[in-house]
Amino acid sequence: MSEQAQNNIVVEATGLTKIFRDFWNRPKARAVNGIDFTVKAGQVFGLLGPNGSGKSTTVKMILGLLYPSRGVLKVFGEDPQNVEIKSRIGYLPEETYLYRYLTAMETLDFYGALFGLSPKMRRERSEQLLNMVGLAHAFNRRVGEFSKGMARRIGLAQALVNDPDLVILDEPTSGLDPIGCREVKDVIRLLASRGKTVILCSHLLADVQDVCDDMVVLYGGKIRAEGTLHEILREEKITRLEVPTLSDETKRELRSWLVANGIDESQIKLGNPVRNLEEFFLEVVKQAREQSVDTAGVQAGGEIPRYLIASEDGKALLDTLRRPSEPEPAAAKPVEQEQPKVDVDKLEALGAVHEAPKPEETQQEEDQAAKEAREKANKKLSNLLK
Ligand SMILES: Nc1ncnc2c1ncn2[C@@H]1O[C@H](COP(=O)(O)OP(=O)(O)O)[C@@H](O)[C@H]1O
Ligand SMILES: [Mg+2]
Repeated sequence: MSEQAQNNIVVEATGLTKIFRDFWNRPKARAVNGIDFTVKAGQVFGLLGPNGSGKSTTVKMILGLLYPSRGVLKVFGEDPQNVEIKSRIGYLPEETYLYRYLTAMETLDFYGALFGLSPKMRRERSEQLLNMVGLAHAFNRRVGEFSKGMARRIGLAQALVNDPDLVILDEPTSGLDPIGCREVKDVIRLLASRGKTVILCSHLLADVQDVCDDMVVLYGGKIRAEGTLHEILREEKITRLEVPTLSDETKRELRSWLVANGIDESQIKLGNPVRNLEEFFLEVVKQAREQSVDTAGVQAGGEIPRYLIASEDGKALLDTLRRPSEPEPAAAKPVEQEQPKVDVDKLEALGAVHEAPKPEETQQEEDQAAKEAREKANKKLSNLLK
């Protein structure tokens, strides 16, 4: 393979296999079973398949979190265990793990710090990303109070904080309403227009249909179908013609012309196509917004961070996809600190607390034990963040 071609390949798997073993080293599950695929730079690549088909296991091997049992896997031409490539990858896990006592701003600031970004850059990116994912009104809310959809949105923001070249999104739209799904898809398209490579795992086929250039369909750890959307879904035996609504008379004429030209009448369908439910839902919401119907919860996403928009094309694409963002309520005011850093007072137990948010729980007064744990965590953290 030429060097040029190699440079364009972001992930290459050959005979990739993962067998989970039990305590006695006996094979327990053949999660991924000899798959080959190639992800090229700038592609949105879909890993499709029902639950349990091996998508997350494949992703974890790409991230170097699991070792392949067999086969060869290269990421940016390197072994996935190579630490240097990690900073080029952004990852949204299937379950969003958040430190529940951090606010939304502090969460992104924390991840930015892990990637060694300067305080100024952390602050700018955090604000821009939260705006983009529709959490502008929740800058200073603790993520422990977030609903599943909100947690998913901040997870997506977190995956982009290091401006990665490869973004891996595992079921990014789970828990999101159709508007949120659409916004995630818009962000994916924007990332692709900026030359980023995206790997998207999903069992929701509608998610993938609009955004993936190339895809594999997994079942039982094996690839059952692969190719571009066009190749996979093209109906070879049907021709569709779309024109503005025809009069009944024209339809009659058209039908008899087709029959006269040898088309079986029972196979001719002439009528108005049905819109898909997603388009219909988005239209209903748009109308409600225009009539200023009140809603609680997440707002539609806003401006895309400037650092994620390389070209005017990217911006133009997004402008056509989005309505202008709505004015934010007062809670969206920027944080007051000049140089925000992770608020150690609120990080209760780094290394101990690593759980998914429980939206039903509300903020509670801290008791004595929590205070002590917090002081302990302060010490740990100040050492860590030096
Ligand atoms: N840590 C593990 N130990 C044992 N089996 C596992 C483990 N992780 C995943 N599996 C099994 O591997 C298969 C594929 O799982 P997964 O990759 O999570 O599928 P998907 O992401 O497509 O839903 C499933 O049968 C699952 O039960
Ligand atoms: Mg999975």
